[in-house]
Formats: sequence, structure tokens, C-alpha cells
Amino acid sequence: MYTLKKSFSIFGADLQDAMASDPDFFSRLKSAKKSPDAEDLLLIGERFGFFKKPTRPIAASVFVTKGGVLKTSLTLNLARMAALHGLKVCVVGLDMQGDITQALGNEGPDENESLEEALRTLNSLRGLSELFLGQATLDQILIETEVPGLCFIPETPELVSLDQSLLTRNRREYWLQENVVQPLKERFDLILMDCSPNWNRLINNALVASDVLISPVECKINNFRNLRTFRALIAEFKKDMRLSFEHIMVPTRVVSSRRLSREIFDWYRANLDSCVAGSIRESVQGEEATALRLSIAEHSPGSAPAAEIRLLLAEIAERMGIAQADWKERLILDQAKLGGSGGDWFGERSFTKNEEGHETRGTDLNLN
Ligand SMILES: Nc1ncnc2c1ncn2[C@@H]1O[C@H](COP(=O)(O)OP(=O)(O)O)[C@@H](O)[C@H]1O
Ligand SMILES: [Mg+2]
Repeated sequence: MYTLKKSFSIFGADLQDAMASDPDFFSRLKSAKKSPDAEDLLLIGERFGFFKKPTRPIAASVFVTKGGVLKTSLTLNLARMAALHGLKVCVVGLDMQGDITQALGNEGPDENESLEEALRTLNSLRGLSELFLGQATLDQILIETEVPGLCFIPETPELVSLDQSLLTRNRREYWLQENVVQPLKERFDLILMDCSPNWNRLINNALVASDVLISPVECKINNFRNLRTFRALIAEFKKDMRLSFEHIMVPTRVVSSRRLSREIFDWYRANLDSCVAGSIRESVQGEEATALRLSIAEHSPGSAPAAEIRLLLAEIAERMGIAQADWKERLILDQAKLGGSGGDWFGERSFTKNEEGHETRGTDLNLN
């Protein structure tokens, strides 16, 4: 797996600094010189990482009404990294596409199986629909991953009928909160709901059960246009349902060499109060990591995209009250070393200037 040095760099930490600051720590590792195993990695994360355990469990939905904007990839990165810091994490898959179920290691049928065997494997998968129908308990639908402390509830094709069944049920917006999220909160620190881009009844349920809503917003013109409607609908839903979740917007697919992408990125940061300073850039490492079912920081810990996602995840963690106090100094240093784009990360936001040199702050774009 990883060398000791690489294991530290997953968390943006430096092995030499760690040895100097806490030499005793290394006697706790089972494999001080060899490559750390999964449990050692957790010890390193807990001691030198940037997440801390919440005092109260947190439920977060990753949702925006657009596909391909890195909802699932962000969920995967957040889930794996939080778990590597020793948090107990449960991902609830709510998208019929099943991407997070795939990404969390449910491999599905292998190519050499017969159709009959393959179908049997697939049909044995039980999820929220079976729980709803009383055909399985919550324990029976939880699947453990190879990361200690990281579990998930898989998506099955029956999610479609669950969505239909919710329609005729009393308290139809509260089913997920009362039967899934609340019970999970007794056992997990962080519950992440990976949503579909279609705003259906399951999404209503996810929003009602959320303490935090995380919306990836692509730095592309179509997503930019959709955003006004999306924000208005969220505001209305929150008001009607008397909800108070915090909304965090995350710019994704940033391509700093393209003017339009850069300007949209600047506009988000200048005009959306809920927007983070960090972002996820369009990158081969990001794409590969998701395909390999890893977080970017595990896949290529020493790359600029990894440094960037560490900063982003720590910032999201801070908004949720689960970041270590010194994350900012440490991770900015780490990013500067790895040549990330964000030398200006906490600097002035670069407002878009119009012809007369006035900051537009997007008011004439009329998107607020
Ligand atoms: N940083 C990245 N840059 C470019 N492509 C990425 C990156 N991260 C993930 N991808 C790819 O983008 C595609 C869509 O991402 P996904 O997270 O599934 O979006 P969503 O859940 O919003 O539909 C996936 O095929 C994924 O492999
Ligand atoms: Mg998805």
C-alpha cells in the first residue's frame, strides 16, 4: 500500500515534522517502518489529520439539480477522508443511478459469472425499499467497506418504487429522518446522503433530515444559469418546511486556463454568501480517483488537486464544526509546497471588473 511518508501526506502532514513533534506516537503504530495498514492509517489521521470527531452527529445531503457536477465524487472524498480520520461515517445512496454504491466498493457481478449467478448477486442486494416494506432491518441493509468505520446503504432499482410509495404515506417527508437518519445518528458521527439530480420525494426526505446541505456548483454556463431557480426553490422549501440547515456551495470543475470558467468561479465566490473559498478543479487525478474508488488524497497524495481537496474538505469540516483548530495554516503551507493554484486562497477575492474598472459583483447579471 503506502509508505509511512505517503501515509502522512494523505492528510497533508509531514513525516519529519511529526517525528520531531511527537516521537512517542510512532511506538503506537503496528508497522512503524513498513507500510501502515488500515488501522495505522486511522491512527495517523486521528493524530495528524484535519477532521475531528463531532460532539453531536451530523447529517449532510450532497444535492443540486444538475448531474455530472461531482456530487458523488465529493461524497466519496468526504466519506473516505472523514473515516480515515477515525470518524464513523455512513453514506446513504439516494440516486437510482447507483454511482456511490459502485464507488464504495459494491463490485457487482464479475464478468466471468453466469447471468443466473450475476442476477442472484444483484437481487440479494437490499436497500431502503426493503426497509420501508419491512423486509429488512436497518442492520441488514448496512454494508461495511474496507475502510474501518465507513459503511453505506446501497442503491437498488427499487428506490423508484420507494419514491412512489412515499407519495401516499402520512408524514411522507419524514420517513427517512425517522426511520434511517435518526437511528443512524446513534451509531455514526457523520451521515452523508448522495442525492440524485432529480428533485423527487426522496430528496425532500433527505433535506428534511439534513443539518447541512452541500451543493457542488459547476463553473460552467449551464449550471450558472440554473442556480437562481435552484436557490429560490431551496429557500421556499426551507421556509415551508421550517428547516434551518446550513447551505454550503462548492465550485467544481474549475479550469483556470479558461476565461469563462474563471469568471464564473470569481462570481460564485464574490456573490454567494454560502460559497466556500476552496474548489475542485477539473483534473485527471480527480477522475481517476473516482474510477478507482478512492479519494483524490489517497490516489495521488502529493498532487496539487489533492492539496486542493484537503483544503476544501477541511473548510467544509469547519463549517460543520468538525475541523482541527490548526488546519488552515498547515494545509495552506502544504498547498503552497505542492504548487496548488491557490496562493491567493485566503487572499482578496478577485472580483470581475467591467469596462470602467468597477467591480460588477454580478449585480447586472441579475442572478441573486
Ligand atoms: N476532479 C475531477 N475532474 C474531472 N472529472 C472528474 C473529477 N472528479 C470526478 N470526475 C468524473 O466526473 C464524472 C461525474 O462525476 P460525479 O461525481 O458522478 O457527478 P454527479 O454525482 O454530480 O453526477 C465521473 O465520471 C467522475 O469520474
Ligand atoms: Mg451522482
